[in-house]
Amino acid sequence: MLKAFNVTKRFGALKAVNDLSFEMQKGQIFGIAGPNGAGKSTVYNLITGFYGYEGRIEFDGRLITGKPPYRIAKAGIARTFQIPQTFPSLSVQKSISVGCRFGAPGGLDPAHVESTIRFVDLEKERHQNTARLNLLGKKKLMIGAALATKPKILMLDEPMAGCNPVEIKSLMDLIARINRDLGITIIIIEHFMKVLTELTEILLIIESGRMICCDEPVKVVNDPRVIESYLGDVNAASQ
Ligand SMILES: Nc1ncnc2c1ncn2[C@@H]1O[C@H](COP(=O)(O)OP(=O)(O)OP(=O)(O)O)[C@@H](O)[C@H]1O
Ligand SMILES: [Mg+2]
Repeated sequence: MLKAFNVTKRFGALKAVNDLSFEMQKGQIFGIAGPNGAGKSTVYNLITGFYGYEGRIEFDGRLITGKPPYRIAKAGIARTFQIPQTFPSLSVQKSISVGCRFGAPGGLDPAHVESTIRFVDLEKERHQNTARLNLLGKKKLMIGAALATKPKILMLDEPMAGCNPVEIKSLMDLIARINRDLGITIIIIEHFMKVLTELTEILLIIESGRMICCDEPVKVVNDPRVIESYLGDVNAASQ
């Protein structure tokens, strides 16, 4: 469904993404992990057309390399951001409506706004200003606004960052439901290995822009290269 071929992104002398190739299938939950600065968020910025790059990316059998971000979004790729991005002056309902309008060329469908608000469990907060939502609320809203565009792929950038265990559980349930009930393919960047091993079918580990491995989570977490370059860090940090 999404295929990257030898993708490289340079920022001056730095290769933030270095000759990266990967492939994901429709319906999968595909994880990306790696140390800070590995190039994970940059991969999202390349897929969504925010930056130009060397190599090519195909979505649904079509080349999306070189297409502007709005065309890529219209083709069915939506994302959330590492730092919650919401419209601070809008209510929850209006914010979701913006996503719905983008995803519905024929005009706003109130039933879709309603079902999206319900799906992300923000019914009680619907008239609240988004700036006043708590962290979990902001994260659910960002996911809801992305879902409202009716994507084929939803890309989540560290959705659990800053969350407590109860909030993490709630977001994991939401992500699993998006995949299972809405049939949406998901890419998730996350530092919490437990989240990745529970949710994902395939896990791509990158370091300094390069692929270290891409396999089933159970194989990845036991791969000596991953333990040395990444999990060693995580284990040390949690001690
Ligand atoms: N616009 C930019 N200009 C210059 N350098 C950049 C730019 N965006 C990212 N970088 C650099 O590219 C590298 C990869 O950054 P990126 O944000 O993709 O890492 P990451 O894996 O998402 O890290 P983190 O886990 O901290 O979010 C870093 O060295 C970063 O400083
Ligand atoms: Mg990042």
